[in-house]
Amino acid sequence: MKKILITGCNGQLGRALNQLLDSQDIEIVNTDVDTLDICDLDQVLALVSKEKPDTIINCAAHTAVDKCETDEENARRINALGPENLATAARENGAQIIQVSTDYVFDGSAKKPYTESDTPCPQSVYGATKLAGEQAVQKITDKYYIVRTAWLYGDGNNFVRTMLRLADERDTITVVDDQFGSPTSALELARMILHIADTGEYGIYHGTCEGITSWYEFAKEIFAMAKKTVNVVPVSTDEYPAAVAKRPAYSVLENQKLNSQGSYRMKDWKDALEEYMTQMGYMAS
Ligand SMILES: NC(=O)c1ccc[n+]([C@@H]2O[C@H](COP(=O)([O-])OP(=O)(O)OC[C@H]3O[C@@H](n4cnc5c(N)ncnc54)[C@H](OP(=O)(O)O)[C@@H]3O)[C@@H](O)[C@H]2O)c1
Repeated sequence: MKKILITGCNGQLGRALNQLLDSQDIEIVNTDVDTLDICDLDQVLALVSKEKPDTIINCAAHTAVDKCETDEENARRINALGPENLATAARENGAQIIQVSTDYVFDGSAKKPYTESDTPCPQSVYGATKLAGEQAVQKITDKYYIVRTAWLYGDGNNFVRTMLRLADERDTITVVDDQFGSPTSALELARMILHIADTGEYGIYHGTCEGITSWYEFAKEIFAMAKKTVNVVPVSTDEYPAAVAKRPAYSVLENQKLNSQGSYRMKDWKDALEEYMTQMGYMAS
């Protein structure tokens, strides 16, 4: 890759990509909604034909899962029309596109990790609009990598930061213990994306850190690393009414395509969390 166009560059993944690309001899065109609204086809076509990137990495999305339920039109514009526009511009300019997607395309009823060939069945507006984004990209161009990730945390609003904040405000925190997944650091996802982008092996990828946990165990690990003394109480999804959108109970993704290629294996989730906590200065000494 010589030139990369990044959309949503101020988000968690966009920042992580920039952290890695800083030290590489690659030209980066960073954009976010103020400089490139991916929902505006004319803007997208104009910028891509002017800049002529060889790779477009779409990090832009409507990621507020609960808000999407009541903001469906906007969610569809950003999560489905946006990728469609970028794929059109990619095809017209000979670029490859990396579209980031989500574990929420699955219904979560499985008992074993989902592979790339399992059939999606989203249960929320967020999941449905992200799936529509995947399908639009696949329809428009052959030069795509769709990367489904999950439980993402980086430099932004995320579960790790919420837990650390709550630990400073409360003595007791209740956390759901019957939803399972793989916490994934944005930095590790960025490494994976930059790796596959050079392979030319197009298709759908699952890209999550290795290992499986629950939100409850994830929270306990965060507090252990930060040495926070807080009482963590496990609760079931039914006992936790705050969520509006339906979450998959089991949304573990198996990185089957990546691991079968054998040249990059994503870190175990605890190792990636430790790297993040250290980098952010959250680790207790
Ligand atoms: N976060 C997770 O737990 C998670 C889990 C699974 C998959 N994913 C996927 O991973 C990818 C990266 O997520 P993330 O957590 O890095 O997202 P993020 O932190 O929410 O960043 C998204 C970025 O996109 C921008 N954006 C919104 N609408 C836009 C538009 N119309 N045009 C251009 N930019 C726009 C946002 O700007 P504003 O902030 O100003 O709106 C923000 O800077 C997304 O595809 C997401 O669906 C995330």
